[in-house]
Amino acid sequence: MKQKITVVGAGNVGATTAQRICEKELADVVLLDIIEGVPQGKSLDLVEASPVEKHDAFVTGTNNYEDTRDSDVVIITAGIPRKPGMSRDDLLKTNAKIIKNVTMQICKYSPEATLIIVSNPLDAMCHVAYNVSGFPKNRVLGMAGVLDSSRMRAFIAMELDVSIENTTAFVLGGHGDTMVPLPRYSTVAGIPITELMLPDRIDAICKRTASGGGEIVSLLKTGSAFYAPASSAVEMAKAIIRDKKQILPCAVLLEGEYGINDLFIGVPVKLGKNGMEEIIQINLTEQEQGALNHSADSVRELVKTLADWGF
Ligand code: APR
Repeated sequence: MKQKITVVGAGNVGATTAQRICEKELADVVLLDIIEGVPQGKSLDLVEASPVEKHDAFVTGTNNYEDTRDSDVVIITAGIPRKPGMSRDDLLKTNAKIIKNVTMQICKYSPEATLIIVSNPLDAMCHVAYNVSGFPKNRVLGMAGVLDSSRMRAFIAMELDVSIENTTAFVLGGHGDTMVPLPRYSTVAGIPITELMLPDRIDAICKRTASGGGEIVSLLKTGSAFYAPASSAVEMAKAIIRDKKQILPCAVLLEGEYGINDLFIGVPVKLGKNGMEEIIQINLTEQEQGALNHSADSVRELVKTLADWGF
């Protein structure tokens, strides 16, 4: 039986996500948006591309949550994107309302789904989805670390003029300016980049990674990144749909791991058919742990603000 992935939000990230899912023939896709005609039009366009792309994944565009019934995975990209000069945190209230509404509808029709949240500010939106859904923590995940690591890998490959296939990168923490890239766990052909680059170049790559989203926003001027975010969400969905037991950095609810309690934040986890199947704990240096705590503090502040607003 074909699996079913719903993508909520048929904007830049959502439509690109739908495209990548069907081109990988991962599942049939339901693309849902609040705007009438847009998900239907984009879905029909994708279906009309399928003979040339040679895949049999079907895409249904809709404004009706009934069509999302019994989805295996739901990727939530609904929301407003960042505008120039706007931080992810400015988006907090608007997107919290949207995520609350979307999650309530999704849970009604797909109580067994795994949720992948993409909307920003990411870690805070995971809290909203978790609280509203009442789902177990293994089925509420945030897409951030895969994107941040992918950006870091791209920068490492550019710096050293090596294949991106040779690169790995590790980024922990909240999906914001306080994220924590870990150079000693970032490698080229298994060699830590700390052996291959001078500290100032590593520093520059870490900084560029942390402000990677903002760099794209300031270039695009009317929206935020979508190709790499879509690829990253699909990588997570693939690990779940295909039960790959793949270790990827994702935002998950920590309950004491890494010394952090009751907070969604990015850490390495194992993804399989049950969603998040294990949190991988690695030893951090004092400095790395301090940076992670700092990042957790900034997420905690947002979550507290949300709680004050009743989310
Ligand atoms: N229900 C369904 N769809 C909604 C709702 C809602 N309540 N509110 C907004 N949307 C839809 C919009 O109509 C729009 O089509 O979400 C879509 C968002 O698309 P874009 O504006 O193109 O934004 P995008 O670049 O896709 O980013 C979406 O992902 O990376 C994050 O920060 C980014 O939070 C933003 C989200």
